[in-house]
Amino acid sequence: MSIKKKILITGGAGFIGSHVVRLFVKKYPNYHIFNLDALTYAGNLENLKDIEDAPNYAFIKGDITDDVFIQNIFETHKFDSVIHLAAESHVDRSISDPLAFVKTNVIGTMILLNAFRSCWQGDFQEKLFYHISTDEVYGTLGETGLFTETTSYDPNSPYSASKASSDHFVRAYGETYNLPYVITNCSNNYGQNQFPEKLIPLFINNIINHKPLPVYGDGNYTRDWLYVKDHAIAIDLVFHKGKLGETYNIGGFNEWKNIDLVKLLCRQMDQKLNREIGSSEKLITFVKDRPGHDLRYAIDASKIKDELGWTPSVTFEEGLELTINWYLNNEPWLNSITNGAYKSYYQKQYG
Ligand code: NAD
Ligand code: DAU
Repeated sequence: MSIKKKILITGGAGFIGSHVVRLFVKKYPNYHIFNLDALTYAGNLENLKDIEDAPNYAFIKGDITDDVFIQNIFETHKFDSVIHLAAESHVDRSISDPLAFVKTNVIGTMILLNAFRSCWQGDFQEKLFYHISTDEVYGTLGETGLFTETTSYDPNSPYSASKASSDHFVRAYGETYNLPYVITNCSNNYGQNQFPEKLIPLFINNIINHKPLPVYGDGNYTRDWLYVKDHAIAIDLVFHKGKLGETYNIGGFNEWKNIDLVKLLCRQMDQKLNREIGSSEKLITFVKDRPGHDLRYAIDASKIKDELGWTPSVTFEEGLELTINWYLNNEPWLNSITNGAYKSYYQKQYG
């Protein structure tokens, strides 16, 4: 089979990246997918066990901040396209170690942009640099309103500031060097394979183990939740049909206050675990708030819906049930990553 595209996907061993890699490897046998990942605490090749031997797939272990290494792999493989997901992605970790976020999210993105640019020397026909970003770059909303593609950037955490900075560099390379790019800014993802430092998998794991559920502040913070496989589908669509130089917001049309989401999760977990209804809710513990905690995120996803015909395929209740089922059926996955370094992270974060 003749190979039509060579695509570098960064961060493909992580949560969203692994779903994107799987979708592309399975759906496009004539694309060669190279998954570049440093395998930090958040990267896990177990996430891709089912496709690791696919003929159109290769894993490259490496760090996007390693300039020489990145230049070399571009020279060797001449990737036509990059789908860039590699990042430090957890807000709480950005509060305790902001510099790590600047290194990977800003410098790492710059190094990829430079390598892509020098590989193609201005001949960008049929080439694409697709940067995956977050709605957190827009800062926080009050009780009303939605983030659109023209909302001003106003990041509040070191994580969102680093992502905002990387978005600006991608756009600047587009303007300055005609580098062909698209950017998507997505809301909170949930689903299979998410590292249990983020709200939903952390709480699922704690419920399984009868541990307290640490709700920050009063729990009245709002997020817009999207099932990860729907995000991967949107990425596929933007990769193939998105307009160069454009930004698309991706969201779930699905706002939940944290406390309401946690109560729904508790009810579903009680049912799945055959526990008395109400028993998981008793684990809810209000703890010290996250510094600089953004009150509300909510995406206006009408541009991607109207221009590219994308909408989420599952309701939140369905997606949450699929997610819970996966974690309950994959306890070895969960157990293998919740010992060692995870225990010391947990102790430091939650005491
Ligand atoms: P994740 O933390 O689960 O995975 C990140 C991956 O990047 C890991 O596999 C890790 O090993 C790899 N990585 C980290 N530093 C690296 C480096 N220096 N070099 C090479 N690889 C490195 O993250 P995620 O939740 O899957 O997020 C993926 C992307 O999507 C990020 O860019 C994030 O900002 C963005 N995003 C995430 C969400 C969300 O809700 N999770 C929402 C919107 C956007
Ligand atoms: O909006 C997109 C962003 O969503 C992504 O860019 C980030 O990579 C991703 O981590 C996520 O950021 P959040 O900070 O919104 O996700 P997190 O799961 O950490 O927290 C969700 C909400 O739950 C938030 O209001 C904080 C709260 N929370 C979180 C944790 C981990 C708690 O109340 N207790 C907790 O223990």
